[in-house]
Amino acid sequence: MLVNWPSLHGSHFAGVKTLVTGGAGFIGSHITEALIDLGAHVTVIDDLSGGDVANLEAFRAKWDNRLTFVEGSILDTDTLARCVTGCRYVFHQAALGSVPRSIEQPARYHEVNATGTLNVLEAARKTKVQRVTFAASSSAYGDSETLPKIETMPPLPKSPYAANKLACEGLMRAYASSYNIDTVSLRYFNIFGPRQNANSAYAAVIAAFAKALNADQPPAIFGDGEQSRDFTFVDNAVHANLLGARSDKPLKGEVVNIACAQRVTVNELAVMMAELFGKTHLTAVHNPERAGDVKHSLADLTRAEKLLGYKVVVPFADGLKPTVAWYREVLAAV
Ligand SMILES: NC(=O)c1ccc[n+]([C@@H]2O[C@H](COP(=O)([O-])OP(=O)(O)OC[C@H]3O[C@@H](n4cnc5c(N)ncnc54)[C@H](O)[C@@H]3O)[C@@H](O)[C@H]2O)c1
Repeated sequence: MLVNWPSLHGSHFAGVKTLVTGGAGFIGSHITEALIDLGAHVTVIDDLSGGDVANLEAFRAKWDNRLTFVEGSILDTDTLARCVTGCRYVFHQAALGSVPRSIEQPARYHEVNATGTLNVLEAARKTKVQRVTFAASSSAYGDSETLPKIETMPPLPKSPYAANKLACEGLMRAYASSYNIDTVSLRYFNIFGPRQNANSAYAAVIAAFAKALNADQPPAIFGDGEQSRDFTFVDNAVHANLLGARSDKPLKGEVVNIACAQRVTVNELAVMMAELFGKTHLTAVHNPERAGDVKHSLADLTRAEKLLGYKVVVPFADGLKPTVAWYREVLAAV
């Protein structure tokens, strides 16, 4: 564990009932673990379409009867209503999460990501949840040339996934202004860390490179590799969610970038990861560019700092080392 959550968030969540949608996934399981560390009671709803109970089992020793796992979908409004009853906060992470797959299945993505989010908001407002934090995405910015990306820029979604996430930001804002519930949309920039799935054909780049390097294969890059990303270790996203939930001022559905504000090219990443794997002889191969991918991504964090008091808790390089160590361990065990 790189971050001591009680030292950052005190006793705010102790004894508090919370719901994490998609909590068996990568980011959701880290939010769940932090909430358990903070003394909260956590219900996780996840249909396991992308997540795995092993992500929760990883910290079973800490559960202390405060974690309830419900295998179910956010499309099932009855189950959702049961899960949310009595909760003060909802951390809404459940979604289908791949840009290329959203291009293949736009209707399914809309159903789970947009209608599913509407269901979560409906359940939350009916049961008097105080605040919903939402896993929004930097993909909303699309290919605008200007860097860094600032929340006031017009969104230019390039894929159905990005459009879904943007629609949800609208819902978050509309619910905060129409009903007695507060919300915030946290636009995550390329989150990485332990438990991110490496075994999907749509794996995120760090997970995919780890799988290749572990198997003594060269990392495969889409395009020339000069595309850059603001790679953000998962603890920073967890921290932003906790700050968002416990904010003492209304957040009114505001959209907030969550990142490290550091730009790394995919070529640089491939070299760094080959070094950490001790496999510098494996130089990257290049495949054609993928539709829907954006060229550069870098966040401005001014609003995150002002509105949430957000600061990066784990910089990129500090997060990459334990991430590679985790992949080496789990991939070796397969
Ligand atoms: N990882 C990133 O870089 C990144 C960037 C921007 C936004 N996000 C968003 O953050 C959230 C978490 O992403 P992640 O990287 O942890 O992905 P993930 O796939 O590991 O987690 C998503 C979880 O949602 C669950 N889920 C999917 N459909 C569901 C449904 N209908 N009902 C209940 N559960 C369902 C999956 O089983 C999975 O456990 C997602 O909303 C994603 O769009 C992630």
